[in-house]
Amino acid sequence: MAKINIKIEGVAYQVEEGLTILEAARECGYEIPSLCSFNHGECSLASCRVCLVEATGARGLVASCVYPVAEGMEIKISSPKAAAARRLSVELLLSNHSMNCQQCEKNGHCELLYVAQITGAREGKFLGAKTPVSYDDLTPSLVRDTSKCILCGRCVARCQNAHGTGILGFEKRGFSTIVAPAAERSFSETPCILCGQCVSVCPTGALSEKSEIEKVDAAMLAGKHVVVQTAPAVRAALGEEFGLPIGTAVTGKMVAALKRLGFAKVYDTNFAADLTIMEEANELLGRIKNDGVLPMITSCSPGWVNYAEYYYGDQLDHLSSCKSPHQMQGAIIKSYYAEKNNIDPKDIFVVSIMPCTAKKFEKERPEMECEGLRDVDAVLTTRELAKLIKRSGINFNKLPDEEFDQDIMGEYTGAGVIFGATGGVMEAALRTAYFALTGKEHEAIKFEAVRGMDGLKEAEININGNVIKVAIASGMKNAKVLMDQIRDGKSPYTFIEIMGCPGGCINGGGQPYVKPMFLPNEDTNILDTFKQKRAQALYSEDERQTLRQSHNNTQIQALYKEFLGEPNSHKAHELLHTHYHSRERFPEK
Ligand code: SF4
Ligand code: SF4
Ligand code: SF4
Ligand code: FES
Repeated sequence: MAKINIKIEGVAYQVEEGLTILEAARECGYEIPSLCSFNHGECSLASCRVCLVEATGARGLVASCVYPVAEGMEIKISSPKAAAARRLSVELLLSNHSMNCQQCEKNGHCELLYVAQITGAREGKFLGAKTPVSYDDLTPSLVRDTSKCILCGRCVARCQNAHGTGILGFEKRGFSTIVAPAAERSFSETPCILCGQCVSVCPTGALSEKSEIEKVDAAMLAGKHVVVQTAPAVRAALGEEFGLPIGTAVTGKMVAALKRLGFAKVYDTNFAADLTIMEEANELLGRIKNDGVLPMITSCSPGWVNYAEYYYGDQLDHLSSCKSPHQMQGAIIKSYYAEKNNIDPKDIFVVSIMPCTAKKFEKERPEMECEGLRDVDAVLTTRELAKLIKRSGINFNKLPDEEFDQDIMGEYTGAGVIFGATGGVMEAALRTAYFALTGKEHEAIKFEAVRGMDGLKEAEININGNVIKVAIASGMKNAKVLMDQIRDGKSPYTFIEIMGCPGGCINGGGQPYVKPMFLPNEDTNILDTFKQKRAQALYSEDERQTLRQSHNNTQIQALYKEFLGEPNSHKAHELLHTHYHSRERFPEK
């Protein structure tokens, strides 16, 4: 790209042609306030006007998030005129805002408050009518509160870009405009997959996860035996909440924090990830041997399962019947663990710490129980765990590294760890399937072809001369490509991994917010690289493990020997498998 000459605040710079003023300024070390613009134009409605600057060649002030730089342009960011205009824009946003910051889930991460602070905007300057509020907390996963919405459109763009489903849009006109599902339905009356991608980009508290911290507090107070488990992706991102660089794995500190928070046992969902692989790889081999329905598709992402039930209700027999790992672990805690420790399962309360808002919904599904007991009782996101830790006064960064409880379900392999990144479940399953088919471990251990952050990947795996074609998709826009092939009878694949969120769980809707304005120590292009950095944290942990294939987990072997029998046994089916059903996309109100 050709370079052009510009001046910012009188200082000469050379920047790439074609950049917006905001992008060029960022390259030159300036951060112009912005709200509606996000992620290299993923959303650029230019609706908030908090990025106004003066620029030669333009008439009046321009929105720097959309206005391109030009040869010889002189830009003034801090002129009194530009600063006053930005302040006024923020004050107008505040005038139509509920401002109940103390109760707001976004407090501490709110971009509107941050921009108000740096522009010197004052609340209450323009008093008057406010847009009527629309509120929705009917799903177990999400809360939508338009009293905090600034109509930036980021959520609308993210939902469409990730999934192509367009659940959210602008409703009504003029001063009454709100962002909501069509006809102002609740998320529960739409095919929203509850992934929380919209929450992760919302600059304010207009979209948030439905917190279950109070449920956990109540169980602790009631004297329940509260067991916690953490998904692999949590350790790759939790440190960001405590100022650590993106990609810092904090496994040991996370365990130490959970122990100090008073959980009776601290387990890793990786144990059940290994268990999932045992069940899933055997299910796949069974389907291959017995001419079963192929391709088989993974089922550990509840966002993906929701999508399949809404959009491909006629193809559900392709999904593995395996429950997701945290549901399996919950079922094993309330059966095997309860029996071993002589605890009444009714007194056990299982908490899952997940990168995902859809798992809050999943654990409420009627199928996710055994003998009248829920597998999992509460799901907290990574962000909610950070809140719990901060609330308790624990100095996270000073914690020592501690180990998960080791008894009966403390062991895990590298295969379990990599579940958190797109391609990870596939790789873990291939490690075990390779062993099952050849009686030997795959020499390289890694299956490089299934790694990487592309939304759609395919690979050919040669096992004993048999070539298996596999595919991996994350984000439902990509899943649709593979599902349409299946529906048309043209799928060349044997096994497919699908994850709801782009990049997999490391980019789940419950992970810490990645907002460049709050990350002064990160690269300016962090939105391009944060998924790779988090994934790398998991791949490094895989490499540090002595055991790297699920079938070599000795506690999993013991679980089968003492309790489940063998993979896909009757008991395993009772506890670890489930079924799916087609769901209406827009049910009658
Ligand atoms: S969105 Fe921000 S400004 Fe609005 S109530 Fe929440 S914390 Fe306060
Ligand atoms: S939760 Fe996911 S599917 Fe639902 S509106 Fe948000 S981005 Fe779209
Ligand atoms: S809900 Fe959030 S992301 Fe969506 S338009 Fe409102 S403020 Fe923007
Ligand atoms: S960030 Fe430029 S108009 Fe909103």
